[in-house]
Amino acid sequence: MNSSLLSPVWTHLTKINVVRGEGIYLFNETGDKYIDFTSGIGVTSTGHCHPEVVQAIQDQAGKLLFGQMNCVIPAVASELSWRLNEITPTHIDSFFFSNSGAEATEAAVKLAKAATGRANIIVFQGGFHGRTHLAMAMTTSRTIYRSGFQPLPAGIFVAPFPYSFYYGWDEATTVEFCIRQLDLLFQGQTAPSETAAIIIEPVLGEGGYVPAPPAFLHHLQRICNEHGIMLVMDEVQSGFGRTGKMFCFEYASVVPDIIVMAKGLGSGLPISAIASSRAIMEKWKPGSHGGTYGGGSAVPMAAAIATINVICKEGLVQNAMDRGVQLRTGLRELQKKFPLMGDVRGLGLMTAVELMRNGEPDPGLTEKLLNSCISKKLLLLSCGSFKNVIRWIPPLVISEEQINDALALFATALEETTV
Ligand SMILES: Cc1ncc(COP(=O)(O)O)c(C=O)c1O
Repeated sequence: MNSSLLSPVWTHLTKINVVRGEGIYLFNETGDKYIDFTSGIGVTSTGHCHPEVVQAIQDQAGKLLFGQMNCVIPAVASELSWRLNEITPTHIDSFFFSNSGAEATEAAVKLAKAATGRANIIVFQGGFHGRTHLAMAMTTSRTIYRSGFQPLPAGIFVAPFPYSFYYGWDEATTVEFCIRQLDLLFQGQTAPSETAAIIIEPVLGEGGYVPAPPAFLHHLQRICNEHGIMLVMDEVQSGFGRTGKMFCFEYASVVPDIIVMAKGLGSGLPISAIASSRAIMEKWKPGSHGGTYGGGSAVPMAAAIATINVICKEGLVQNAMDRGVQLRTGLRELQKKFPLMGDVRGLGLMTAVELMRNGEPDPGLTEKLLNSCISKKLLLLSCGSFKNVIRWIPPLVISEEQINDALALFATALEETTV
């Protein structure tokens, strides 16, 4: 199909004309099969067209497509809230639905402002929270997302993220540095008493797939508790089993005030959510937030319930953990032979390889390597501020054999591109 009428604002990893998806595979018009290690940027958690998700969508489509939340209460939205309640910490018992990650980020900021009566938000260097105006102001992973659109909404303050490999320090030194810088920010830019929320991705996503050390998250928790600041976890990319836990913040056992969810929740249907306690949600004046579709569009709700059921029933959280270990072990083996693989890191199936040459990020090699993988029908994405990180983010249904297939293709691509 000719795509020339689509806006050129979209960048494309490939121009593959996809017509069908199944499990970890995508197919074009002529039946060529591609291994999808992008999951549509972390969306197709249960794989492409999981039969149970498809069935739930078909069933829901035959019953109710839409029940606008301000007019009625669609039963499927209530059902999803109860299902989410079962997989979130006990203090989380209130859910607001919207359509995209950016929308949910904005909702979290509005809720934090309403709950605290404060104006300012702290985010972290390299963070990505979306592309609407407020979310853009919170996004510092790459200037392409902001340049030409500034000035952006005020009241957003950026603290360093504990990215040890970038700084070249051990984890404890990096955490200590970031804690001191956060303290400096509180002294010089936004006082704790005017700070509504600290918002962090527990694994920096677009910024390079860097897990936040638990010690840093514990510090954020302490600061938030001490000063009445909302601790907000942006789990848009890391949630729903992706990192080997249902939610990534579970690794650090922190207690977020607000959780931001999207992507993997709907297996491909547009749905996002913020989750909090009833006491916090009640600080939001009724009517002060909402939207036409959030919660009312019934098919994504049904897809989300089916997605959570499949994740639980098929043990996909554990599979993400196990396959992630397998993947990083395989990549670390390759690293011994290809020292341009500067760092192999990640949690579960949110895994990264950072490519370096002579101590500097190597985006050129990264691009060559990705193109070589694409020519072998293995789809991988880059990330990182310097575009020198390859992210491995396959559907959570991936098998041991499929990981090995991908590793073998990657090894051949490395042989070809690094000589
Ligand atoms: C951590 C994180 N937050 C928010 C977003 C924005 O989500 P959306 O693209 O659905 O607006 C993304 C998208 O990549 C993300 O990774």
